[in-house]
Amino acid sequence: MKKSAYNQQLRPRRLRSSPAIRDLVRETTLNAKDFILPLFVSEKIREKTPVASMPGVFQHTLDEIVAVAVSAAAGGVRSVLLFGIPSEKDERAEQAYAENGIVQRAVRAIKREVPELVVITDVCLCEYMSHGHCGVADRERGHILNDESLELLAMTAVSHAAAGADIVAPSDMMDGRVRAMRLQLDGAGFQNTIIMSYAAKFCSSFYGPFRDVAESAPAFGDRRTYQMDYANSEEAMREVALDIEESADIVMVKPGLAYLDILWRVKERFNMPTAVYNVSGEYSMVKAAARNGWINEREVVMESMTAFKRAGADLILTYWARDVVDWLK
Ligand code: PBG
Repeated sequence: MKKSAYNQQLRPRRLRSSPAIRDLVRETTLNAKDFILPLFVSEKIREKTPVASMPGVFQHTLDEIVAVAVSAAAGGVRSVLLFGIPSEKDERAEQAYAENGIVQRAVRAIKREVPELVVITDVCLCEYMSHGHCGVADRERGHILNDESLELLAMTAVSHAAAGADIVAPSDMMDGRVRAMRLQLDGAGFQNTIIMSYAAKFCSSFYGPFRDVAESAPAFGDRRTYQMDYANSEEAMREVALDIEESADIVMVKPGLAYLDILWRVKERFNMPTAVYNVSGEYSMVKAAARNGWINEREVVMESMTAFKRAGADLILTYWARDVVDWLK
């Protein structure tokens, strides 16, 4: 019997034949609004100071930080994440929650100039502690005191909200901080302040360059007793679940590239607005290779950013936020 022409084996097309076709079936797209730009404001300097390990990243004075925020917003950046470097450090991190602390002043100044820019503040004590740890320390025993730290962290969050921060982002990894913050924020009348918690934050060597810019390297020990072991992914699920139970509104995974599996699991399991932090070490490695002409910075960055979104990130915190927003135009 003659075989009909319609019985031949067929194969689907690969859908890669032209840029227009590739675009038509592209699953993941980046939007300017997805990107959050970290900024550093320092009380200790008189002019903008470069950071050797992070080319293109600066510590800014209070005046400059406003100009940087204005220009970032004009360039299309929708949100910034503020870190402060105080001139005084002590054992109670007093400048972290001072009404006129550097972050509080920066938030007020930025909100005055560009009210539409979403201002997120990093809530941690490490930059404000003389020992550089994220909580109150018992120096003699080399311990970080979890419960003693909660009150200071909550006070810090409230002081940021009072200054006008839209979102507070606890990065300390003490247990119970989200609950403590939510209760204090609500009690102080800041029911609308959002909490973005660094929910699955691993103890990572990828933070190395950040500690130069934030001047927050611990003076003794390391952060292993409060940040997570990078070998653990089930534990990351429990950490995220706890933060959500404590009323976190947005959850974050940090670092980024080496933790895409965690990001994927978090997004799949919890379906929450999910952020990823493309941290300092990830930035510095690409910058160094690009400066040597070994890789194409822009291409590598866009590929990485797309990978974050593909893996489940709704929001991406990156030192390239300004560039990415430009490249997307
Ligand atoms: C503060 C904090 C750190 C980072 C963000 N918030 C450092 C740390 O935990 O040691 C790291 C950011 C980066 O590496 O880009 N606790």
